[in-house]
Amino acid sequence: MQGLLGRPVAVVGLGQIGMSWAACFLARGLAVAATDVDPLAEHRARAYVAKAWPQLEAMGLVVPGADPDRFTFHSSIPDAVSGCGLVQENGPEVLSMKVALLEQIDAATAPDVLIASSTSALAMSDMQVRCQYPGRCFTAHPFNPPHLIPLVELVGGRATDPGSIAIAHEFYTAIGRKPVRLHREVYGHVANRLQNALFNEAARLVLEGVTTVEDIETAVNWGPGMRWPFVGPFINFHMAGGAQGMAGTFAKFGAEEATSTDRVARIQLSAEQRASLIEGVAHCQGARSVEELETMRDRMLVALYRLKHPVG
Ligand SMILES: NC(=O)c1ccc[n+]([C@@H]2O[C@H](COP(=O)([O-])OP(=O)(O)OC[C@H]3O[C@@H](n4cnc5c(N)ncnc54)[C@H](O)[C@@H]3O)[C@@H](O)[C@H]2O)c1
Repeated sequence: MQGLLGRPVAVVGLGQIGMSWAACFLARGLAVAATDVDPLAEHRARAYVAKAWPQLEAMGLVVPGADPDRFTFHSSIPDAVSGCGLVQENGPEVLSMKVALLEQIDAATAPDVLIASSTSALAMSDMQVRCQYPGRCFTAHPFNPPHLIPLVELVGGRATDPGSIAIAHEFYTAIGRKPVRLHREVYGHVANRLQNALFNEAARLVLEGVTTVEDIETAVNWGPGMRWPFVGPFINFHMAGGAQGMAGTFAKFGAEEATSTDRVARIQLSAEQRASLIEGVAHCQGARSVEELETMRDRMLVALYRLKHPVG
């Protein structure tokens, strides 16, 4: 793994996720060689990194010697991946495109180069099918924006060598990420499944007229969301169980909770229901632009990260 930290990282696809990964790798002192089919991508990415740098500094994530100018842009995949130790693929979420991208990356790299895909919902088993050396291909799914949110979900496909995942786990940990491992592929990995379970229930509560989009946002932000930066669902119930911990929670609420969670199931949204939720969101958003919301989110993520990892 040490070797990986001394070699450039190639970033293939410089959209929302690729640009943020680039900022993250650069801050950890790595050189980044990037490529994208969009000729405007280089300019966009350089501006993104410049904006992300002070955030990364505020989080204490910029290591001595790190330099945003260690970013190079290449017009082809073979040029970008030449000499790198790991490729982070962030192309569009379309299976045929992922298969083609991985095939090209595989053909252009030595067999010991790791190939990670940021895919949110595609299976690596389906993506690695045309690779000559599929054992080094795995999913490393970040949360948007990857430079501010440390989680990376690691999962291999049918042909992935478990050794590649082990090296990837060390690598992402070494660059300040928080990797988790999935022992098998499941749709949506883990964190988005949790997020979607909450969304489904939120949508149901609004559509059934129980409350509004705005009050759901308030309930999450000022209720359970206050705990989530520090405790997940298990430790939360462990703490709720008093001296007996989780066992106490099951004893106190077990039967009732089992029934209530059964009632919280997936919902299918009709076009009319979607329109009604979209209208609720527009009302909740008010005059704030998405950019303003992103700026607020990023400011809070930096502050929260510092609270959890004090620097200086
Ligand atoms: N946006 C998110 O919230 C999010 C979160 C986690 C993971 N992901 C995953 O990350 C990946 C990228 O998502 P995104 O939101 O950044 O998408 P995006 O559309 O913003 O970026 C995709 C980029 O790939 C480029 N591209 C297209 N074809 C290419 C090719 N042949 N070679 C090189 N570049 C090419 C596009 O020009 C574009 O810049 C997807 O797999 C997505 O599922 C997205």
